[in-house]
Amino acid sequence: MPWCWLGTPVAPYHEPAMVEKHNPKQVAGYRAAEMVQTGSVVGLGTGSTVFFVLIRLAERIREEGLEITAVPTSVDTETKAREMGIPLVSLDEVGSIDLCIDGADEIDGDFHMIKGGGGALLREKVVASISEREVIVVGPEKVVSCLGTTFRLPVEVVPFARSLVVRKIQLMGAEPIVRMSDNGGSFLTDNGNEILDCHFPEGIDDPAALELALDAIPGVVESGLFISLAHAVVIGHPDGRSQVLEKD
Ligand code: 5RP
Repeated sequence: MPWCWLGTPVAPYHEPAMVEKHNPKQVAGYRAAEMVQTGSVVGLGTGSTVFFVLIRLAERIREEGLEITAVPTSVDTETKAREMGIPLVSLDEVGSIDLCIDGADEIDGDFHMIKGGGGALLREKVVASISEREVIVVGPEKVVSCLGTTFRLPVEVVPFARSLVVRKIQLMGAEPIVRMSDNGGSFLTDNGNEILDCHFPEGIDDPAALELALDAIPGVVESGLFISLAHAVVIGHPDGRSQVLEKD
């Protein structure tokens, strides 16, 4: 018989003083969506944090009459944004992008990033490269002092060259594995390529040099290292606070 049935009083439940009720991704996503101005061309990144950006943008379009045209960075974002009623255009239809809001898997103190957890790194980097301003939305766990310490670096490769690229990356001291999909085959990006998720046992000491070295391997389409592309980061916290940090 449970002890409390014998007459022992059950301690009353008290809420802890600091209740962590908020989803940091939602806090960051909603805050960044407020930065979008009417009349602008907006890049829409990919991932579960950007999902909240989409939700808030769709609300602002409905409720405030916010007028934007948006360029999605993946089929996933395109599908979600279309369902929510966000007006979309293709990259071919715009000369530049005023503001791109995207997520990250890791971001360091210089705003260098690892991206590509969702496999959209190539289109994300193309869109970031023509954006006047790139704002990154993250929870606090994504902020690191050294890239590569909490997340494997995704590298998009042409399937034909996969084995060659694996060997070259191993020679750099990393341990690449081929990303698999739920159906048991290799994961394919929106561009029909594969992803190697690369573990760097010591972390990534010089991200800019590594990006150049990876780009120089024939068969590498793009790496998930985003160097000097972010202008600001919005960090959402579980207590509902958001921080906006600007690049110097
Ligand atoms: C997709 C990405 C995402 O932005 C990154 O993986 C972060 O995703 P999430 O917000 O779901 O944690 O780079 O290619």
